[in-house]
Amino acid sequence: MHHFNYHHDQLYCEDVAVSEIADKVGTPFYLYSHATLKRHFQAFDAAFDGIDRLICYSAKANTNQAVLKLFAASGCGLDIVSGGELYRGLQAGYPARRIVYSGVGKKVDEIDYALQAGILMFNVESVAELELINQRAAVLKKRAPVALRVNPDVDARTHPYISTGLKKNKFGIASQNALSGYAMADALEHVDVVGMACHIGSQITEARPFEDALGNLKALVTELQHKGINIRYLDMGGGLGITYENETPPPLTEYAGSIIEQLKEMPLRLIVEPGRVLVGNAGILVTRVLYLKQGDIKNFVVVDAGMNDLMRPTLYNAYHAIEPVAAGAKELIVADVVGPICESGDFLAIDRSIPLVESGDLLAVMSAGAYGYVMSSNYCSRPRVAEVMVKGGDFHVVKRREGYEDLIRGESLPQFLQK
Ligand code: LLP
Repeated sequence: MHHFNYHHDQLYCEDVAVSEIADKVGTPFYLYSHATLKRHFQAFDAAFDGIDRLICYSAKANTNQAVLKLFAASGCGLDIVSGGELYRGLQAGYPARRIVYSGVGKKVDEIDYALQAGILMFNVESVAELELINQRAAVLKKRAPVALRVNPDVDARTHPYISTGLKKNKFGIASQNALSGYAMADALEHVDVVGMACHIGSQITEARPFEDALGNLKALVTELQHKGINIRYLDMGGGLGITYENETPPPLTEYAGSIIEQLKEMPLRLIVEPGRVLVGNAGILVTRVLYLKQGDIKNFVVVDAGMNDLMRPTLYNAYHAIEPVAAGAKELIVADVVGPICESGDFLAIDRSIPLVESGDLLAVMSAGAYGYVMSSNYCSRPRVAEVMVKGGDFHVVKRREGYEDLIRGESLPQFLQK
């Protein structure tokens, strides 16, 4: 469910016409619906009613301060993977006690920052990291709350780049090493063992992989209990998929229901780290058609957004629906929708059937709220686009469009080039 709908053939975000925003803000821009974001969080949280839980929004999907703040205000926690995300989260008002920190490559300064802030727990991904966290806690005279991220070796059946729970993946500690890892953690002087974590992948469209992972983790938690190590938090990670084209991810009630069912007897607080499912369909990328071009064997619709603005089609061959902002054209064409960048991989869609458009028309690239703006770059010296949030009948620029001066900010000339 989202709030991007047509009224009289014009695409609206809540009560604002998308074309009106484009006229005022220019293109391209990301557009987020406040009501959709809010509703997605509420529905996700409510699906876990009846179980002690903390929903930790996975910041990496969309770190705009307005988005972070909206979830923080709803009582949400945060899942981070870097010092930068910790900074953004604290700025947006997340209490440190609601922040969990995953990632295979935490650096000393990032660990120190998280220890000083007093986060809920580190999801530790290796024995070497565990030792470093213990050392840093000793230096800073802190205690480090940790969970081990266990790799449950289940196949999430998603794109190989975003599958994370298989033996061959770099993430977590192999489940057969988990018990020895916990024994080691338990013996460390400055570490408190508080949880167990996993995250098996992203854009998962079946309930089964989550159930399998949870089954494996539950067995480990019970074994640890027998050894006198009591886990308080069980962090299931994120990963629930959304509909981009014709995927049919399990409804929230089914996804949450099976987790609740498996955990209801256990004295644990559940943590879940949803990213895409909260923000993906709450955002679109609005782009303007620059040129139509007929090649020998293909039609090209050249638009002003490129792979630097939305990388998912190029990187994962990901499908994003493309809709005209002004509907009504009857004639369809089959075309590649391509950006202005000097690479053949710069496309938003290949061989796509879309209504016939002309130069100046606006297109909406749907389901772009997750891993859109956050993965954008300045490639080809293209300033990053604006981000806009609509609430009801008003829109707000929540990140200004970069200008050319932003492109060279921070660069400096060595003395020998200064003459
Ligand atoms: N927790 C951890 C530890 C993660 O690594 C991730 C995502 C999440 C939670 C949130 O997963 P979600 O609920 O959004 O599936 N750039 C890719 C997705 C990469 C996901 C990385 N980790 C894409 O555009 O599809």
